Amino acid sequence: MGKEKIILDVDPGSDDAIAIAVAGRHPRIELLAITAVAGNQTLGKTAKNALKVCSHLGITGVPIAAGMSHPLVREPITAANVHGESGLDGVELEEPKLDLDPRHAVDLIVEMLSSLSGDINFVATAPLTNLAVALRKKPGIAKKIKRIVMMGGSYGLGNITPAAEFNIYADPEAAHIVFSSGVPIVMMGLDLTHQAVVTQDVIKRVECIDNEASRLFVGLMGFYSTRYRERFGFDGAPLHDPTTLAWLIDPSIVETKAMHVDVELRGEHTYGRTVCDYWCALGKLPNADVGVRLEVERFWDAICEALSFYS
Ligand code: BDR
Ligand code: CA
Repeated sequence: MGKEKIILDVDPGSDDAIAIAVAGRHPRIELLAITAVAGNQTLGKTAKNALKVCSHLGITGVPIAAGMSHPLVREPITAANVHGESGLDGVELEEPKLDLDPRHAVDLIVEMLSSLSGDINFVATAPLTNLAVALRKKPGIAKKIKRIVMMGGSYGLGNITPAAEFNIYADPEAAHIVFSSGVPIVMMGLDLTHQAVVTQDVIKRVECIDNEASRLFVGLMGFYSTRYRERFGFDGAPLHDPTTLAWLIDPSIVETKAMHVDVELRGEHTYGRTVCDYWCALGKLPNADVGVRLEVERFWDAICEALSFYS
């Protein structure tokens, strides 16, 4: 199997940091660029966290650019309650030895997609502001994206409101632009990512890898899992964001179902909900393959393998 080229759009964020680690060395993934956006924390923190993770793990030669500091319409929110004040609570990473790319992330995305031949995946594990602005700035790039693989939304419960998931709720208008762009979408919503729980057994397994990446995983997941246990009563934190990369590495790890997905922009109680037409009640053409079932053991095999490529 060949490599999948990706631009990785993140808001690190504990699980985003693991997504960067997975993408950074896996032989099935060619990481072309990392773009940061405001989400789990402010843009200043998420961009610096992306630099810190790459510097710490020795991921070099990949441009890292900072993008949108605010959502398109709504007021900004963060998820400090689960990722901490730094966005990466649970670990103390040294000051990065890398610098940000001088370009705005939106310009980097537009330039990279315009100059290459339509074989790039846009992997988004954050609010979709950067991609939405890039699509508005240069609509022609929609044809150049092979597919969008994103973490966000849910056809069942929400996690930030009863109806909405954090990444979509943090910028619903941007998500609306992306879901109506015509680009093929693979959506890893909470229905799927809540099957990827970092239990104590997972932690022990990752600990045995015993390298920089596994130690980063254990440090971050310790804090993040405690927050998830307290807040949601889970057995550990769901490793939401890396499910996107697991699907790219081996699509058979995730069972998907084609659905038409719309983003609710006006509902008083449902703002930011992904309305997923599971039963094709409206008869509209599907615009997303939505994750429904995770091959849990094979998912952890893929994550552990990806972490084992570090020294
Ligand atoms: C999503 O929200 C963020 O807090 C996580 O990084 C993940 O991308 C889960 O709802
Ligand atoms: Ca994220």
